[in-house]
Amino acid sequence: MIVWVTGASSGLGLHTARALAKAGHTVIAGARSFRAETAEGVHRLPLDVTDDGSVAAFREAALGIAPRVDALVQCAGLLVLASCEETSLDEYRRVLETNFLGMARMNQAALPLMRAAKNGRIVLFSSINGLMGVPFQSAYAASKHAVEGYAECLAMETRPFGVQVCLVEPGDHRSGSDRYRLQGAAMNGASPYAGSFRRGVAVIRRDEADGSDPDRLGRKVAGLLARRRMPLRLCVADPVQHLAVALHRLLPGGWMARLMGMYYLGRGHKNISQDAEAAERVHLR
Ligand SMILES: NC(=O)c1ccc[n+]([C@@H]2O[C@H](COP(=O)([O-])OP(=O)(O)OC[C@H]3O[C@@H](n4cnc5c(N)ncnc54)[C@H](OP(=O)(O)O)[C@@H]3O)[C@@H](O)[C@H]2O)c1
Repeated sequence: MIVWVTGASSGLGLHTARALAKAGHTVIAGARSFRAETAEGVHRLPLDVTDDGSVAAFREAALGIAPRVDALVQCAGLLVLASCEETSLDEYRRVLETNFLGMARMNQAALPLMRAAKNGRIVLFSSINGLMGVPFQSAYAASKHAVEGYAECLAMETRPFGVQVCLVEPGDHRSGSDRYRLQGAAMNGASPYAGSFRRGVAVIRRDEADGSDPDRLGRKVAGLLARRRMPLRLCVADPVQHLAVALHRLLPGGWMARLMGMYYLGRGHKNISQDAEAAERVHLR
């Protein structure tokens, strides 16, 4: 297969591109800045998913390498860590421009080719945060929830043209780079959320550092492309995160919000900004 992969310079996109190349596919990888370790046998092209001209140039160059696209795997993404109150509208815009509009833009570049071929597969990287919210990740959660709803529409519309859509919903994986986990500009020690922010971000970082194996996820995506029919959703997470997703579906919303709040922010969700010990343990960047 000829597979275009976005966000292939780092993290799960890089591991996925590697696994796809290893499975024998022709991989055309797009990102703004490749570093040395990108997979052997992968074609690398510059791509900024937020820019119309860059996406058009990528499409042109990719078609120069191979004359069609059988699958598009979209991994480009970033997040901003900040309270809802203090995430600036520009920060919301930046996350949505990349994670949601960038994804839609890439699909619009590939879909005419897939429709003409009456064949195509689109794999969109969502997240378990596309299924439930986590404190201080509102821009990211909003963008991934947008991807979830969008993908359901896309799957229904494109099925008659032979195009299949799958949402990959990873839990925490130990792969992502800090370059794409931005701290909101307002999140300094003067923030009214400073204490709970420190604690919440420490939990988020710990869970990612202890997360699942990114190579395994890459192999799962390669396996998806080998299936005759892809499922609409593939959640790839550890058992505890699968349980959290199931509870989120089953429990009344308020209960789940309290459980999640306790997990990330501590008992009673009190703002611990006066807790000097906690402030020392985890420093704000
Ligand atoms: N890692 C996890 O635990 C986890 C969990 C759930 C979901 N996910 C999802 O998996 C995907 C990969 O995340 P990650 O954390 O593994 O990787 P990451 O290290 O955060 O890498 C992000 C990738 O996105 C690319 N990117 C960012 N802005 C871009 C733009 N404007 N145009 C093109 N590419 C852009 C970056 O490349 P350049 O900067 O070179 O362009 C980089 O390759 C994301 O969609 C993320 O939401 C990850």
